[in-house]
Amino acid sequence: MADAEPTEKTYNPRMHSGGKLSFRGRQQDGDDDAGEFLVIGGDDPPPLALLVPTGFRHVEIEIGPGKGAFVLAATEAKPDTFVLGIEAAPAYASLAATKLRKSGRDNGRFLVDNGKLFLTDRVDDAALDAVHVYFPDPWPKRRHAGRRFFTEDVPGIVARTLRDGGYLYVATDNAVYAGQIVRVLGHAEDFVRDEAEERRVRALGAGHAFSPTNFERKYIEEGRVIRRYAFRRLARGGAAAEVAP
Ligand SMILES: C[S@@+](CC[C@H](N)C(=O)[O-])C[C@H]1O[C@@H](n2cnc3c(N)ncnc32)[C@H](O)[C@@H]1O
Repeated sequence: MADAEPTEKTYNPRMHSGGKLSFRGRQQDGDDDAGEFLVIGGDDPPPLALLVPTGFRHVEIEIGPGKGAFVLAATEAKPDTFVLGIEAAPAYASLAATKLRKSGRDNGRFLVDNGKLFLTDRVDDAALDAVHVYFPDPWPKRRHAGRRFFTEDVPGIVARTLRDGGYLYVATDNAVYAGQIVRVLGHAEDFVRDEAEERRVRALGAGHAFSPTNFERKYIEEGRVIRRYAFRRLARGGAAAEVAP
């Protein structure tokens, strides 16, 4: 189970109500191997402020980390940053949290929850340096489009949680979904696409943004075109308050 790729069957139908992704309160089992590195969100997930150990000035979230390759790399590349992976599939979160525990690093956790809900009601204003979303499920059927992460409400939800100059990093192999992402974020008043940042973080290498992820590895092997975007959160208060990244 832990090694299976996510399919529609991975999803409990109860997590989709009214065409929207909503799975708080679904049955979730803990995992002794993962210890405190796996947090089961359940009906009432703890707020971010309770999950971050004292002393971390920088906090980043990855939504949908799958088997956790990026969070594992990011906690190693950025030891001063706390990285929280929020994963809908308990088996993946458990697998990833066990790997993190075995790494010996304490600057990350995996939480089982709906990432969009968690950003909406469990994260303080301007609490995050970055939000990462890599290879979000494209849900290609029209009737499933409401399950996508990048719907019209996402810029507002993410912008509230990012500090001024913080980043939303996104990668996808799906050209249609990439178009939706660029349209939704491109029209958002709080974000601007930053191609210099895209080049900068790619040059920095593993664990800074975009790489590595399990799906990235698979799609590179298949020769698929991967689109990577960095959207910078503009300064609150308008252009006069804009800060350098
Ligand atoms: C296609 S996989 C990509 C996994 C990983 N990012 C990678 O690149 O290897 C998408 C993952 O997002 C998770 N997911 C989908 N919607 C989610 C949501 N709203 N909140 C948290 N996780 C979500 C799925 O369970 C799945 O593990």
